[in-house]
Amino acid sequence: MHLAIIMDGNGRWAKKRGLKRIEGHKKGAEVVKEITTYCANNPEINILTLYAFSTENWKRPKMEVEFLMKLLDNWLERELQTFIKNDVKFETIGDISKFSDKLKKRIEYTKKVTKNNKKLTQVLALNYGSRDEITRAVKKMIEKNEEITPENIQKNLDITRDVDLLIRTSGEIRVSNFLLWQIAYAEMFFTPTLWPDFTTNELEKILNEFKKRERRFGGI
Ligand code: IPE
Ligand code: IPE
Ligand code: MG
Repeated sequence: MHLAIIMDGNGRWAKKRGLKRIEGHKKGAEVVKEITTYCANNPEINILTLYAFSTENWKRPKMEVEFLMKLLDNWLERELQTFIKNDVKFETIGDISKFSDKLKKRIEYTKKVTKNNKKLTQVLALNYGSRDEITRAVKKMIEKNEEITPENIQKNLDITRDVDLLIRTSGEIRVSNFLLWQIAYAEMFFTPTLWPDFTTNELEKILNEFKKRERRFGGI
């Protein structure tokens, strides 16, 4: 199944402790490692898509944006071993053309080294916005002179797999421009837990709840 997570609440986690927001992002990055390792070892989960930086997050103070870019670069360098050890393939969605050459190279290198890994595909949403993704998909279709059908639109998205389960942490009940097309029939869970406090234990509880839900996809 395809699990998607809106990892929210890093800033509030730090504020609660009298720390700078960036400390929340650092702790959040550690949680990504734990959750990815758990998902790689859970045969039910094939794809894990994580919202890491939205097309709207450029509105944040320059210092925070720069810190997030640096954190991502360091994180990818460190986590390459985790990807290899856990047989995780690394991919991204979103428009990374605006990122620095150094970061783009790091992203491409991580993809190249992990491309044959099989247990889990971890997809990071980077400079991702669903409206941007759909707009780019439609542009591609016009260039290729493709017929406008739901199937063709889906085929041209950055990620074609429908989401089965969407989780958002931090208590906000909204989707913030994440995978709007792909969550058409997703089951959704909203937890008040802030992302840096999120654990594999809580994820397991949500997965158990998910299994109890009856998915009808419009049928009876
Ligand atoms: C999510 O945490 C991480 C990113 C959006 C990069 P936030 O930074 O949004 O944390 P809050 O929502 O301000 O607590
Ligand atoms: C969504 O969180 C984006 C990511 C988690 C990367 P935000 O914190 O940016 O969303 P809003 O502003 O609360 O909707
Ligand atoms: Mg937030």
